[in-house]
Amino acid sequence: MTKRLFIKTYGCQMNVYDSVRMAELMAPLGYETAGSAEGADLIILNTCHIREKAAEKVFSELGGIRRLKEARQRQGGEMLIAVAGCVAQAEGAEILERAPFVDLVFGPQAYHRLPDMVARATHASGGQLLDTSFPPEPKFDHLPPVAGGTGVTAFLTVQEGCDKFCTFCVVPYTRGSEYSRPAADLVDEARRLVAGGAREITLLGQNVNAYHGLGLDGAEWRLGRLLRELAAIIGLRRLRYTTSHPRDVDATLIAAHRDLPVVMPFLHLPVQSGSDRVLALMNRRHTAEQYRRTIDQLREARPDLALSSDFIVGYPGESDADFAATLTLVREVGFAQAFSFKYSPRPGTPAATAADAVPETAKTERLAELQALLHDQQRAFNRSYIGRTLPVLFEKPGRHEGQLVGRSPYLQSVHAELPATRIGDIIDVTIANAQPNSLAGVPVSEEALA
Ligand code: SAH
Ligand code: SF4
Ligand code: F3S
Repeated sequence: MTKRLFIKTYGCQMNVYDSVRMAELMAPLGYETAGSAEGADLIILNTCHIREKAAEKVFSELGGIRRLKEARQRQGGEMLIAVAGCVAQAEGAEILERAPFVDLVFGPQAYHRLPDMVARATHASGGQLLDTSFPPEPKFDHLPPVAGGTGVTAFLTVQEGCDKFCTFCVVPYTRGSEYSRPAADLVDEARRLVAGGAREITLLGQNVNAYHGLGLDGAEWRLGRLLRELAAIIGLRRLRYTTSHPRDVDATLIAAHRDLPVVMPFLHLPVQSGSDRVLALMNRRHTAEQYRRTIDQLREARPDLALSSDFIVGYPGESDADFAATLTLVREVGFAQAFSFKYSPRPGTPAATAADAVPETAKTERLAELQALLHDQQRAFNRSYIGRTLPVLFEKPGRHEGQLVGRSPYLQSVHAELPATRIGDIIDVTIANAQPNSLAGVPVSEEALA
């Protein structure tokens, strides 16, 4: 009998990847992925702990799910509720206590045991199960090969965990220490994804460019070398990777941007702050000048490289002068897009107990000022493509009938009138207009016909 599985995913792309893997683990047991929580036999919330607001969402979501479970029980049915991901890892015991109707809680390194946990929860006489262990053997050794077939673009986790311990960040505690998967497994997984229809693969890691896995030749490979290997896969048209750390941009990675046309000219390289004093307080272990130099080297290798970044405003002790240094860095580098956040104290991190908290009003003002500047840069970047032609990988139907949406090399969303049969194709599009968050244009072949 088929059962319904509903997974709700929060947070970063690695959680998206993990959710796909969890669905694949449950498929042989008869679980089909459903589009909504209603009537599901198993609900998994795959959670994020990065900022306070992200973590709070879990508890508010659980309120609604409790009512669904009760309704189903009144009809004589059962519904298993699982909380996975980084909140589960950080606050597992608290979840079980605050939400006694939750059946399973497990962290990012334990989800390969999901079928076993579900079996135990189904057959056991009730009782909640908690697994937030960091098994010595990586979960990847226990996961079946990826099925593929999930779309034109796919994620592939090559590295997981973090040993950097930035003072504000929960990731080293929720994901555990750095681990790089062997290149042979990654080449195999990439081939499966391409065979299943993927044309673009984004390599994932909390510090993807800290990758140092076992190479096909027995030597240790860095990310640049891995990219070179994956670039040779027939049928794979585009490669991206995220998220990178400025300290780990090495010569092989810069060379990959110079030499490999399938490596897209877009890089998300979080800097957090433009102030050396704040960067030191954050334990980022690089200066603003080193960041600028890294960008210069990358742009020398790939002149059209578009950049994205993450910023935190209002880190404890951040002064007006520190914040001004961030604005200066943004003006000097120029970003095609970026994410910016108010500092959010996270339990268990060193910064959470720091003195000198920045008042909420100052955080709000600084965030607004930074976002205005970043939005201006994004708008200018998008506008600069009006009248130019971009190769777009079309991924799915657009908002309007008869329209498809895809991505430019620079990760801009691009809409064009095209039939659904063109999904998965890379088509040259002349850009006609630019919105802050997307472009629209006309396929060159149709232009020629007109
Ligand atoms: N590994 C990446 C970042 C992962 S978290 C890196 O090293 O850059 C994604 C982003 O969330 C971070 O870049 C940071 O800007 C933001 N972030 C992390 N912890 C935060 C906190 N406590 N408060 C506000 N923003 C935070
Ligand atoms: Fe968090 Fe820093 Fe590691 Fe990024 S490098 S995941 S910000 S600790
Ligand atoms: Fe969130 Fe965990 Fe990713 S805290 S950002 S889901 S690594």
